Amino acid sequence: MTTDTLTRPTLPPGPPCRWLGLPELGALRRDYLGFLSGLQRRHGDIVHLRLMHYRDYNFFHPEQVRELLVAAHEGLIRWERAIEVFAAAHGQSVLVAEGPAWKRQRQMLQPGFAPKRVEAFAPLMVAATEQALAGWQSGPEFGFESAMTQLTMEVILRSLFSRSDTAEGRRAADAVHAISLIGMQEMFWPASAPLWAPWKTGKRRALQTLDGLIRGELARRRAMPDFQGEDLLQMLLQLRDPQGRPLGEQALRDECMTIFLAGHETSAAALTWWGWCMAAHPEAQRRAADELHAVLGGRAPSAADLPRLPWLQACIKEVLRLYPPAPALLSRISTVPLQIGGYTLPAGSMIRLTPGIIQRDPRWFEEPEAFRPERFDPASGHAEIPRGAWLPFGAGPRVCLGSHFALTEIGLIAALLLQRYELAPAPGRPAPIPALRITLRPTEPLRLTLRPRG
Ligand code: HEM
Repeated sequence: MTTDTLTRPTLPPGPPCRWLGLPELGALRRDYLGFLSGLQRRHGDIVHLRLMHYRDYNFFHPEQVRELLVAAHEGLIRWERAIEVFAAAHGQSVLVAEGPAWKRQRQMLQPGFAPKRVEAFAPLMVAATEQALAGWQSGPEFGFESAMTQLTMEVILRSLFSRSDTAEGRRAADAVHAISLIGMQEMFWPASAPLWAPWKTGKRRALQTLDGLIRGELARRRAMPDFQGEDLLQMLLQLRDPQGRPLGEQALRDECMTIFLAGHETSAAALTWWGWCMAAHPEAQRRAADELHAVLGGRAPSAADLPRLPWLQACIKEVLRLYPPAPALLSRISTVPLQIGGYTLPAGSMIRLTPGIIQRDPRWFEEPEAFRPERFDPASGHAEIPRGAWLPFGAGPRVCLGSHFALTEIGLIAALLLQRYELAPAPGRPAPIPALRITLRPTEPLRLTLRPRG
């Protein structure tokens, strides 16, 4: 036995267990990020909670985050309750599946989201953005968040189905909003009531809208055997498993739903916070606009231009640090005993990793609450950020499948927007307050002042 195991208590520090952890569950529900941040301040990098029948471990150090997500990946599954809630909309897609089924799905889908494949979507991202920008009315109270939601919805509908239907898109946006709010509440209940329960009307209708949208698009494509486009649905239709079989109808529906849902909500949240950060930091915004002028001279950007816009990229990375659209990764459950940070976690432990807190740690980010894009600017000579300290897309084998797609989309939209408009806070409105609703959104819909750039 080593000295370490002799002196280490068997459980990491944490609040005493009272009432099966009900007070802690209540605190998580009221203010998830605030509560966990307080725990880290009081107890350190590894914090233990007793929540009902779970031993709940929180890890806040980048090294342990990587140890878990990368090295210990095989010994983790996602928390069953969260997956149950997600499965109501996503079915058995790559986001929901575990084990060999997940590995098979991920291997099949991954090539379709590689940087080269994603580049092919850049022209349609640019076209969708130019069309949206042409319809915007500048003024002091522009509905920025709803414009970003509509635009990212438009981009995903065109990328996935080669479709552009704003009325359907708007209905779907409302349904996604309803599902996110309901989903967040349901996570804290041990089970969901059946969909036929009278108080489930909202969820039932929202799911029907989304399911109708996806199944309608699948039927439309089946009726177009000569379709020549290269959208994501076409990529899904061409997939074959090792035995040469295509995806079944339900599997197609499920993967489409996940790409649709995961593919626009998060990007809309990122662009919303990017808009706020630009509006609140006019010097950073001016520098980004000057860089765009110098590199593009007024022409529309392409995917190949994005690496030549280091300041714009640094601003986007800093936004994803301060306001990660997914500030809490899906909680994991260990399926085998794990040795992490000097503790033994028994099989069945709940593991919580929270980029929303890790990314605001002053040990890795000086003045962590401040918007300082230079931390990510290679030319600034800023201290290197440890791996695992910036993880808006997660890490390890289950890292976001759409990260290239998202960064290309956000970069192009940001560039086109700043070429035409200047952003400023709406007069008399307070700074937006972030709230966790599966994705991180302002408590009130963000409005900004939009001025045409001279
Ligand atoms: C700024 C935008 C985005 C952010 C911040 C984001 C974030 C994330 C994160 C953190 C995860 C991992 C969750 C976990 O480990 O618990 C994830 C998974 C995933 N994301 Fe994204 N995402 C974004 C955009 C997209 C887009 C555009 C797509 C598709 C077009 C997408 C598709 C997926 C899928 C399919 C998974 C599940 C992967 C798996 O389990 O193997 N995401 N995303």
